[in-house]
Amino acid sequence: MRDCYNREIDYMRISVTNRCNFRCTYCMPETKKVEETLSLDEIYEVALAASRCGITKFKITGGEPLIRDGISDFIKRLHDIDSVKDITMTTNGFYLCKYAKDLAEAGLSSVNVSLDSLKKDRFLKITGVDALDDVMEGIYKAEKSGLSTKINAVLQRGVNDDELFDIIGLAKDNNINIRFIEMMPIGHGKESDGVSNFEVSEKIKEKYIVSADNKIHGNGPAKYIKLEGFKGSIGFISAIHGKFCDGCNRIRFTSGGKLKPCLCYASNIDLKDIIKDTTIGPEKKIELLEEKIRECITTKPKAHAFEDLSKVSELKDMVEIGG
Ligand code: GTP
Ligand code: 5AD
Ligand code: SF4
Repeated sequence: MRDCYNREIDYMRISVTNRCNFRCTYCMPETKKVEETLSLDEIYEVALAASRCGITKFKITGGEPLIRDGISDFIKRLHDIDSVKDITMTTNGFYLCKYAKDLAEAGLSSVNVSLDSLKKDRFLKITGVDALDDVMEGIYKAEKSGLSTKINAVLQRGVNDDELFDIIGLAKDNNINIRFIEMMPIGHGKESDGVSNFEVSEKIKEKYIVSADNKIHGNGPAKYIKLEGFKGSIGFISAIHGKFCDGCNRIRFTSGGKLKPCLCYASNIDLKDIIKDTTIGPEKKIELLEEKIRECITTKPKAHAFEDLSKVSELKDMVEIGG
């Protein structure tokens, strides 16, 4: 379905939980509101309704999606919807070693794993958990299980920006794509000193022979390049310095039951009342959910306004929205 700016909206990001077993400094709030989380059956109903509105791609996010019991079965159910073409996940990677094979068998095509440092002590400082080895093992297991595997790195000045080339090095001999995400002023991202992707790309060009990579690596806004002699590609998600809203294809659904037309704005449509209403029959419920999803697509704003935060009424924590 097209929105008011003629963008085809065919991708939904579903946050299946706002809980996480990590505490990344720029992401997790210190005190978190307790919000009721929908069951995976309830989330499935929304996904089914979305598929009838032209959503063919789903990204499963959190918090950390792999802490939810039954997540592989949930993915299998999504995969079984005829019109669904692609299901992917963004995870911190901690449980990938355990679940990568099940996820691939359930129909997941790809995982994005957050990795901001290759130094054990620094990884612990950034995420709050001493889990670098588990995450690295999970990344390699994902690749071996046939999942298209990408790494998300957020560089912060004076924190991990000296690891740029070490992180890139993971793409040399592995079929793993590395993406650099510009820090967004969401949650604690507001107080962090993010490095611009322009700077990252200039540094890379000084050291490597670079060419454009026109292969499509996902359904998101990243732009990719190839480095000579590297198996994997390098991607840039330039949310701040390279606004990509003109090509936006997505809406979001939070684990608490809210539809969000844009990452940046507080505006949302609460589906909880419909989802929890036991007096509505199953087919009617899907119809009502479809109506709300169409409304969400219709009200999608033209662009985010990160550059002028006075225009943004309220920015939630990333863990609430699912990135
Ligand atoms: P694929 O390319 O399909 O793997 O998707 P993706 O890169 O969009 O997924 P991922 O969950 O790994 O997101 C990477 C980063 O992009 C996160 O920091 C997201 O918050 C950010 N992102 C994803 N969609 C949007 C968007 O619509 N607007 C903005 N500003 N950022 C987004
Ligand atoms: N700005 C940019 N990226 C962020 N992430 C979490 N919070 C922010 C932020 N404020 C990233 C994580 C993860 C992805 C889903 O979002 O590092 O890789
Ligand atoms: Fe958890 Fe991801 Fe947030 Fe880190 S960035 S706390 S891994 S949801």
